[in-house]
Order: sequence, then C-alpha cells, then structure tokens
Amino acid sequence: MLSLKDINAWYGLSHVVQGISLDVRPGEVAAILGRNGAGKTTLLRTIMGLIDRRSGIVEFDGTDIMQMPIHERYHRGLAYVPEDRRIVPGLSVRENLRLGFVGLRAKAEEEAVIAEACETFPRLRQRLDQEGVTLSGGEQQMLAIARALVAKPRMILLDEPSEGIMPVLIDEMYELFKRWKQQGLSVILVEQDVERALEVADRAYIVDQGRIIFAGTAKMLLNDREMQERYCSV
Ligand SMILES: Nc1ncnc2c1ncn2[C@@H]1O[C@H](COP(=O)(O)OP(=O)(O)O)[C@@H](O)[C@H]1O
Ligand SMILES: [Mg+2]
Repeated sequence: MLSLKDINAWYGLSHVVQGISLDVRPGEVAAILGRNGAGKTTLLRTIMGLIDRRSGIVEFDGTDIMQMPIHERYHRGLAYVPEDRRIVPGLSVRENLRLGFVGLRAKAEEEAVIAEACETFPRLRQRLDQEGVTLSGGEQQMLAIARALVAKPRMILLDEPSEGIMPVLIDEMYELFKRWKQQGLSVILVEQDVERALEVADRAYIVDQGRIIFAGTAKMLLNDREMQERYCSV
C-alpha cells in the first residue's frame, strides 16, 4: 500500500533521513521507533511532501506521489497528524474539524461528519463551540485525529500521539487504534512509548541517525529488550 524506496531528506546541509526503505501493507500498523532526533518526524514530513530537499520514491497504491502537492496526497487517502497537532487558534472545535473537510467532502455532509467525529470522540461533543486551543492536550490530540479522519483516509500517519497526554486518554486513543485495525485502516505510528506501540503494531522499525537499524515483527522487538533499551530510550 505504502512503499518507501531510498528516502533521503535534508535540512540545509544536514542529511537527516539517509536512505530509508520500508513497506506498509493494507490494514497494517507499522510502528516507527527511535530516540529523539533520530529523524522520525522528518521521515513523516517527507512522506507528506513537507520537506523541500528530499529524494526517493513514495509509492502509494502503486503510484509515486513524491512530487504531488499535499492536498493531492489527502485526496488519495493519506492523512497526517503532526507532532504539534496544529489546532488553529481563534477557531472553534467545529471549525477546526471543518478544516479537514476542505475540498475533500461535500458541504452537505458536514453535520453527519461532525456527528461521526463526536461519536468516535464523545469528549468533543460538549466542546464543539469552544475554541480548539482551550482544550486539554489530550483533547487537542483527539481533535487533531478527528480532523484527519474527516477525509476518510485509508492510511494515517501519527506522530507521537501519546506525548504529554494523561494515561486515561492514551488508553482511549489506543482502543481506537485497535478498532481501526478491525476496520482495515493502515497506520504508521511514531511513538516514544514503545510498549504501547508494540501492543498494536504488526511490524516495527527502529530509526537511528536517519537510518533503519531494525526491521521486524512487533513481536520480535518485544522480545528484544536490548534493542529496545539501546535505541528506544528518550
Ligand atoms: N526544521 C529543522 N531545521 C533544521 N534541523 C532540524 C529541523 N527539524 C529537525 N531538525 C534536526 O533533524 C534531526 C531529526 O529530527 P526529527 O526528525 O525531528 O527527529 P525525531 O522526530 O526522531 O525526534 C535532529 O537532529 C533535529 O535537530
Ligand atoms: Mg519527532
């Protein structure tokens, strides 16, 4: 479904992603792990076309999307929830959800889509008219995920969704990820919380200094304490 071939990315002269190749199959959850600064966020941004200096092939459903504009990637069913969530100040929860809409679904569907988001995230229902940035960190994360789901993606890229969030909300979020698996939504999950990630992941990759230094099943990594300790601690 998603196939990365020899992906490289640079910030100025700094070569941050160095020849990453990997495949994610339909309905699979792929965990991407690794220490802070390893290049995980840059890899996701490269997949979405947000890094100017990049090379390699990003194949989505057999088409190279590397040169396509970001909205075209969304059209094709790829969604992205960035690390900093990007809840827009001055807009209500409802208006933030609407942003996920633009150009992707008919305006007439709006009420249905918002109702659907509230069903998935009941915490948002009471807060639809509240300014998005006044929500708690965990609720903002849910809003960011809900906004990505509006486009009905077939694959979603999540960058450290549990970071800075209360454990009870992390539990809720991971329950959702498990439901996604049953629905066949494919996921790339970048996480610091290795145990949680490996609980839902099918495959796991460890990135270190811009390269993949481990690729295997989630189970293989779960059983490899040394690998986890050496490369996944913050
Ligand atoms: N906008 C940027 N400009 C220059 N260097 C950056 C920028 N963003 C990240 N970096 C550097 O690129 C490397 C990889 O960062 P990042 O992809 O954010 O890692 P991770 O998500 O694994 O923590 C780090 O050394 C970081 O300092
Ligand atoms: Mg990061």
